[in-house]
Amino acid sequence: MLEVTFADAALPKSGALGLLVAESAGASGLWHDADEATGGAITRAFAAAEFTGKDGQTCTILAPGAGLSRVVAIGLGKEADLTARKFENAGGTLAAALAREPTAALAADGLPGPHAAAAALGAALRTYRFDLYRTKQKPEDKPKFAALTVLTTARDEAEAAWPALQAIATGVFTTRDLVSEPANVLTPAEFATRIEKLGELGLKIEVHGQEQLQALGFGSLLGVSQGSINPPRMVVMQWHGGGDEKPVAFIGKGVTFDTGGISIKPAAGMEDMKWDMAGAGAVVGLMAALAGRRARVNAVGLVGLVENMPSGTAQRPGDVVKSYSGQTIEVLNTDAEGRLVLADVLWYAQEKFDPRFMVDLATLTGAIIVALGHEHAGLFSNDDDLAGKLLAAGEATGEKLWRMPMGRDYDKQLKSDIADMKNITGRPGSSITAAQFIARFVNEKPWAHLDIAGTAWASKDAPITPKGATAFGVRLLDRLVADYFEGKE
Ligand code: BES
Ligand code: MN
Ligand code: ZN
Repeated sequence: MLEVTFADAALPKSGALGLLVAESAGASGLWHDADEATGGAITRAFAAAEFTGKDGQTCTILAPGAGLSRVVAIGLGKEADLTARKFENAGGTLAAALAREPTAALAADGLPGPHAAAAALGAALRTYRFDLYRTKQKPEDKPKFAALTVLTTARDEAEAAWPALQAIATGVFTTRDLVSEPANVLTPAEFATRIEKLGELGLKIEVHGQEQLQALGFGSLLGVSQGSINPPRMVVMQWHGGGDEKPVAFIGKGVTFDTGGISIKPAAGMEDMKWDMAGAGAVVGLMAALAGRRARVNAVGLVGLVENMPSGTAQRPGDVVKSYSGQTIEVLNTDAEGRLVLADVLWYAQEKFDPRFMVDLATLTGAIIVALGHEHAGLFSNDDDLAGKLLAAGEATGEKLWRMPMGRDYDKQLKSDIADMKNITGRPGSSITAAQFIARFVNEKPWAHLDIAGTAWASKDAPITPKGATAFGVRLLDRLVADYFEGKE
């Protein structure tokens, strides 16, 4: 993790300097000092590069003088709409431009402390790397950027805001590490072992193994895992920060690899299915963030961890399983497995914890990518109030949601000839009918389902997310808790 420190605003005598520049804004004190010390090099470079501070615009000036190795200016856009989000993104873009610099200072003089801290968060998030399996990378080829000093005129405020943001960044990195791991390493058992280590943060962790899940009657989840030699787990994480109030609950799909099972997927692109546990990964990172920043809330996170494999012991199309809720399911397609896992874990969550609401996250359907691309995750909910809060948290964090419809006529399509329901419908609206399936395992509780199949993994860099695992959901749900459910017993 990028080492972030805050210092009073004074021009550094060496190293790199970052400037955040709003369109048609005057120069800040430090920017003015740097320009003067370099004999006007910054003003000249801005003019030559036609750099005006447009949103996302960057300008790099190498060895401008005054001992500085480089000055990197990042455009913030119009001065009127400078939200914390803008500063996060600018910090991220800055970090990418500083990859060759071991240390840098950021001129944040004149900014409110929380905005200075937000820029540091963005920078930290962008420096994420998953290098565990590179044994041949030369040191000179690795990004060097390791420490950022934020130069600020609001040092107390910025320093006060930082620890919570750092806890969030740690949660995001936890999720990205889990989602990036290959499935031969991250089996359900290994996943559970890694979650257990988060007990250090003060989370209470309970791991349920195969026998316990059998004894509970998790027939729906167990049907998915029965084809794999890697036994399933359900892990329950509890954070107690809110007195004796009822908890909020987060549930994640954790399919450590989804071959499709007997309804096997085509070979091309199947490797992507190592991240079919991204919903569970986000729940784990979220719980780490809440615990790390000592959130004043009671929260419970539950993840269903299975591997979906074809084999002689695998579930067949046409099998009928009995879920923990007692409802029976005709499994017509073994590749529609995520909903089968969520069914049992959701029912358990409400039976055991009677939560204030439940939010589940799942890489559930390819169809949500067809509908929304990679820009929004699908939001399905039985509760307008919860949905509204989630949409607002999405806007605030940039982890954007788009609400999808639900209703009786979609639900009817789940009718089975021989059981209470079947696990697939036809292709039309199949992200919606998948949500309707899950809704049958929600017992009159405010609930929302986030289909993150299109947003859990990115194939190109974005300001605060290098390509790869995004940890979508961690910052979103941390924000939901912070803005609406903390300290409100
Ligand atoms: N894990 C997949 C969904 C998925 C697809 C996630 C592509 C990310 C990228 C899920 O288990 C699945 O296989 N869904 C099927 C459902 C179908 C069989 C009804 C799908 O989307 O094709
Ligand atoms: Mn599947
Ligand atoms: Zn899946």
